[in-house]
Amino acid sequence: MSTTVKADQTIGQQIQSCPQIRASIDTVIEQMRSRCDQITDVRGAIEGLSESYEAAMQRAGEVRGRGLLYPYIGSGAGNGALVELGDGSVKWDMICGIGVQFFGHSDMDLIRMAIEAGLDNTVKQGNLQSNEEAFAFTSTLLEHASKHSKLKHAFLSTSGAMANESALKVCFQKNAPASRVIAFKDCFMGRSVAMATIGDSAAGRVGLPAALPVDYMPFFDEVAAEKMGHDRFIDMSLMHLQQYIDRYPGQHACFIFELVQGEGGFNNSTRDYFVALMECCKANNIAVWVDEIQTFGRTETMFAFEGLDLGEYVDVACVGKMSQACATLFTEEYNPKPGLLSGTFTGETVSFRVGQRIIERLAQGDYYGDNGIIAQHHTAFREQVFALQAKHPKWFGEIKSVPGTPGTTNIVGGKGGMLRFTPFGGHKDPVVKACRMCFDEGVILFYCGHDPYHIRMLPPLGVMKLEDWPRVFERVEAGLARVAEEL
Ligand SMILES: Cc1ncc(COP(=O)(O)O)c(C=O)c1O
Repeated sequence: MSTTVKADQTIGQQIQSCPQIRASIDTVIEQMRSRCDQITDVRGAIEGLSESYEAAMQRAGEVRGRGLLYPYIGSGAGNGALVELGDGSVKWDMICGIGVQFFGHSDMDLIRMAIEAGLDNTVKQGNLQSNEEAFAFTSTLLEHASKHSKLKHAFLSTSGAMANESALKVCFQKNAPASRVIAFKDCFMGRSVAMATIGDSAAGRVGLPAALPVDYMPFFDEVAAEKMGHDRFIDMSLMHLQQYIDRYPGQHACFIFELVQGEGGFNNSTRDYFVALMECCKANNIAVWVDEIQTFGRTETMFAFEGLDLGEYVDVACVGKMSQACATLFTEEYNPKPGLLSGTFTGETVSFRVGQRIIERLAQGDYYGDNGIIAQHHTAFREQVFALQAKHPKWFGEIKSVPGTPGTTNIVGGKGGMLRFTPFGGHKDPVVKACRMCFDEGVILFYCGHDPYHIRMLPPLGVMKLEDWPRVFERVEAGLARVAEEL
């Protein structure tokens, strides 16, 4: 047995608190800030850089085996909602790596965390051997999740799909031998074979065998609920659910809920709809699993289940994207047996340090509530869309309507920082083209939905200013005008 030694601090603590190292980090931050502050507006490429940028793009296409959707390779610098590309051009980033950069680009506070994380002896932390950061991140996450639910423990992973895989295993094990899953139409859960099976996108599973049996429920349908009456819509859906339960008695392990559908089109539901379905799950021993990978941090509450007051029903929840590290959270009842969840990596020290800081900033700032920063941005975004519609009514014709698809009556929608609008009738071609044209005009967007297709934004609301919206929409207008010209 090793003998103990006398010392005030571990070597690790000495490194983290060393005044010289701290001063060096201050210098790095100061130098970075003075350069990033020069990024103040959209601009074109730096003369002379386009050839090397073109070559980098070509190499990216070659190594990937297919070209990139956008000619985007970042330079490694930005300023808030503005990002610099490798050719020196600057664009508004309204999609942020599909919702990852809530505090935008070159946020010096987060960069400081990242540099400090770099002082660690390892980049990756694992299930067998971990440093403190992984547990500090997890306990911060659980502190907030447990305020409005019975979620008590969490298992970390490096992608949303893997967090969902862990959730699926937790549900299966608890409710074994039940082997079926219930999911919503238009859901998205990630790209593993099991998640691609559950996700309601035919293109995402071309050539893949089905990994498990899935029964699909309609997501809340605003249009149908209005036509037939909200309560009747709920009754019909409950009948639908009961049919599955009766057809396969005791065979459903879980019902997976995306409380605001992301890839499916930023679709919302009423609380009553979810409550009716979740109560039916509870009565039939079916786990309620909420996938908050896209919603986490972004609605008018930190967790979407909190805003909808559904925490009491949640057995398992997953977070990812803006949290940097991904996690599967579960109640005591759903705590799995040893051996079910593990893996070499839990994640990177930098993801844990930055992720923890992000959660702390979300909790300490004025982001949430009916009049919080996120709600104010949502209103500002809607105003911009309606102003664009008033100026160019022809761009906002009747939306391609598919029976059963929610939100088809409205050109603008989403929730909190999940923002969508629907030009050109929601037809795929012009919507996808609009994203490309807007990129060329200096604003990065993406699309979502499956007929109708929408333009979506997951902007860096943690740093974006309300005054930025007219500047962003100036570029959006220029991009859409190019599509309209072609139509
Ligand atoms: C709701 C939802 N679940 C799961 C995932 C998968 O996450 P990842 O791409 O990190 O695997 C996503 C990603 O877009 C998502 O939006």
